Amino acid sequence: MTSDSTTAATPVRLLAISGSLRAASHCTAVLRHVGTMLPAAVTQQLTTLGQVPLYDGDLDGATPPAAVAELKDAIAQADGLVICSPEYNYGIPGVLKNAIDWASRPGFASPLKGKPALIITASPGALGGVRAQAQIRDALAATLARPLSRPHVAIPLIATRFQDGRLVDTTTLEMLQAAIGDLLAEIRLLAAARG
Ligand SMILES: Cc1cc2nc3c(=O)[nH]c(=O)nc-3n(C[C@H](O)[C@H](O)[C@H](O)COP(=O)(O)O)c2cc1C
Repeated sequence: MTSDSTTAATPVRLLAISGSLRAASHCTAVLRHVGTMLPAAVTQQLTTLGQVPLYDGDLDGATPPAAVAELKDAIAQADGLVICSPEYNYGIPGVLKNAIDWASRPGFASPLKGKPALIITASPGALGGVRAQAQIRDALAATLARPLSRPHVAIPLIATRFQDGRLVDTTTLEMLQAAIGDLLAEIRLLAAARG
């Protein structure tokens, strides 16, 4: 982004990352819906982690596996990240942690460094995956990414928030709208500071 990037008309690119590989994933559906809620100048690419292999330091060289290279390139091209993840056994799903591990190299100088990131969790349970949220935040902080400092976006009872495959719950939509606004404000703030 250029020095005029504090204006609402300047293009902003978001990368959406789902922590679930299921075809019928609620988290992926939430991200798809987020893509429809964005202002005109903001675009979102949705990436899937299904092809990302398990982290292997022996493969982590100048030519990493293709899916890893694609993921890191997509992160590098994005102005900000939107992550929506379930909680598995009170924590971060392995596929998401694995992807963060790959993307975090070289340490403290990876495409994740300085990247604003909105973290969303969703669960069929009453807590909305909030325990995973803390672990996602910690993992991102270790990479020097910038997980947003704002109230948690945790969506409980996720299946009830959808009707005929569409996210319709007003409270959830309002929560997402506010969070997206905060992410875009952070992106524009950083762009302005960079000049
Ligand atoms: C291995 C496993 C562990 C799970 N552990 C939790 C958990 O600790 N807390 C929770 O709220 N839901 C847990 N769940 C339920 C997931 O939140 C639920 O499957 C969720 O819908 C998955 O998200 P998705 O619809 O995006 O795939 C678990 C599911 C699996 C498969």
